[in-house]
Amino acid sequence: MANGMQVFLLLLWTANTPQGAGVQVFPPVNFTLTVSALAQVLIHWKPNPAQEQNNSTIRYDVKILSPVPEEYDTRRTHSVRTVALHNGFSACVRTLLLQEDLQMGSDWVKGNLPPLPGAAETSVTNLSCVTHITLPGNVSLHCTWLPGQGAPEDTEYFLFYRYGAHTEECHTYIKDKWSRNTECRFSSTQIKPGEIDNLIVIHINGSSKRAAIKPFQQLFNQNAIEKVNIPRNISISLEQNDLLATWEKPISPFHEECFEYEFYLINLKSGNKQILKISYNSFRLRIDVSSRYSIRIRANHNHICRSRGLWSDWSEVVFVGKNKLDNSIAWILTLLCVSTSCTFLLVAIICKINHVWSKLFPPIPTPSNKFRDPFPVDYERARTCTSSTETEVGSLAEDLYCSVLDDSVF
Ligand SMILES: *[C@@H]1O[C@H](CO)[C@@H](O)[C@H](O)[C@H]1NC(C)=O
Ligand SMILES: *[C@@H]1O[C@H](CO)[C@@H](O)[C@H](O)[C@H]1NC(C)=O
Ligand SMILES: *[C@@H]1O[C@H](CO)[C@@H](O)[C@H](O)[C@H]1NC(C)=O
Repeated sequence: MANGMQVFLLLLWTANTPQGAGVQVFPPVNFTLTVSALAQVLIHWKPNPAQEQNNSTIRYDVKILSPVPEEYDTRRTHSVRTVALHNGFSACVRTLLLQEDLQMGSDWVKGNLPPLPGAAETSVTNLSCVTHITLPGNVSLHCTWLPGQGAPEDTEYFLFYRYGAHTEECHTYIKDKWSRNTECRFSSTQIKPGEIDNLIVIHINGSSKRAAIKPFQQLFNQNAIEKVNIPRNISISLEQNDLLATWEKPISPFHEECFEYEFYLINLKSGNKQILKISYNSFRLRIDVSSRYSIRIRANHNHICRSRGLWSDWSEVVFVGKNKLDNSIAWILTLLCVSTSCTFLLVAIICKINHVWSKLFPPIPTPSNKFRDPFPVDYERARTCTSSTETEVGSLAEDLYCSVLDDSVF
């Protein structure tokens, strides 16, 4: 019991009083948390007026408790954090006195920001965003999300993005079947294409007559959500047994060394598929020259320059190698040609024979209608439709067809 007390006192002594000097460490005063922009909080405090400094250095320990725990120390009396604030924020700070190799901390002072107001489950979910360099110098932004499970049908969502000091509201929404906004496009933004690891803040709030919609915030690393452009000027050729491929890096402010590629090769004869990872703009590959290949290439950032992005779309398919497929098509075409000409020839011959036949054995004259009436003949024929008229029409057509053939074939 007595021993325990001694240890406790000793701990207190070493914790609060540096050796030799009876210096006390006081916590900071006027600790405040202020929302200074979307998803940005300014943590601010004042040195305790009672704090003596003597020959020691004063620093501050900052501990972020939520939403994302973090701990650091600073000489300044303020600190700015970029963090999603919809579920609130809490942090604490204490004075740190450094004297020679001794370090002492004061008590902590704590502060917090309440969660952003709104009914449960009304926030958007499954937010996902993609950026794209559309022209050198212009970045587009596209975000999609799902309405919260508890969001009434009349909910209208609004999206804002913040990049540095610039905040902008979306004006081009795409709606779901209840005409709630679930998608937004910015065809141009203030996002700078060449920056590394900058944050894009997305803030989505909303309104409804039946519920308070709770806002939602998410931070995205600019490079991690960039969908890379397709490699350009792809050229593929054959040199003896080798396939030679060259291309140019996608439209991007980053250098060639910042990209890697996937080369997707399908052997159309064997059906073999291969994906090769390549870190250069050209390459040579031994192939089976008796086969035909289909080739596609896509690009991404490598991690040397910055965070990986999203793979580009595949380039258009390029074919290379022996044209087996075309050969068979040519075969079919030839076969078709030959058989059609044969048929024509046959028909023509039959026609010719028929002519000769009809000259040798002239057809028996068809009997005329016995009961002729004053009505036009055409009407009578159409009504009765005897076999004789059919024959006449048929032979007329045959004669016409044959005379055409006579002219063209012989
Ligand atoms: C703390 O805030 C109070 C009231 O706002 C003010 O009177 C006081 O001077 C502040 N303390 C310091 C050390 O700035
Ligand atoms: C939305 O996200 C949840 C959790 O991340 C996931 O389980 C679900 O499949 C997603 N829904 C859709 C439609 O993508
Ligand atoms: C949504 O957030 C923006 C930016 O903070 C704010 O100006 C706007 O009033 C909010 N709208 C609603 C409906 O809460």
